[in-house]
Amino acid sequence: MAPGDPSQADGAVLVVRPDLADADLNELFGASWPDRRPASFAPVLARSLTWIAARRAGRLVGFVNVVGDGGVHAFILDTTVHPDERRQRLGICLVRAAADEARARGAEWLHVDYEPQLEPFYVQCGFRQTTAGLLRL
Ligand SMILES: CC(C)(COP(=O)(O)OP(=O)(O)OC[C@H]1O[C@@H](n2cnc3c(N)ncnc32)[C@H](O)[C@@H]1OP(=O)(O)O)[C@@H](O)C(=O)NCCC(=O)NCCS
Repeated sequence: MAPGDPSQADGAVLVVRPDLADADLNELFGASWPDRRPASFAPVLARSLTWIAARRAGRLVGFVNVVGDGGVHAFILDTTVHPDERRQRLGICLVRAAADEARARGAEWLHVDYEPQLEPFYVQCGFRQTTAGLLRL
């Protein structure tokens, strides 16, 4: 997908690197992540390799961010589907679109970390389990 080109995911429209209003992202994250505070996203997205958004009837219902190391590694962050839209395979569509875009932008490895209960989701997205480390700073 070229940036701005839409594609369909079961009626939701996926768009690569769209302009996103803080109000829309804050509404999506607020509904999905209990501890998340409203934020301004322009500085975050300015450093992203790419991001994918999903809209249904104009409403932002899904988002995934991809950051890169400038080389072959990319990381997906903030995979989010609005609670009203879950278990319709929109999350898988978002992550697979993110993987396609990361590959098109030169990444060869896509990383993600997640809580144990989400392993079936990420396995269906195509990830295999590996060991990884995490340090709270
Ligand atoms: C995780 C999340 C993005 C999944 O989105 P979704 O659109 O509901 O996922 P899909 O419909 O594509 O799921 C496909 C399959 O993955 C698995 N799956 C999805 N969500 C799951 C969950 N919460 N727990 C366990 N398995 C899950 C299921 O096998 C599902 O297939 P099924 O519905 O036929 O059982 C969504 O639940 C979400 O936004 N959660 C809150 C934010 C979050 O924790 N994000 C993950 C960051 S690492």
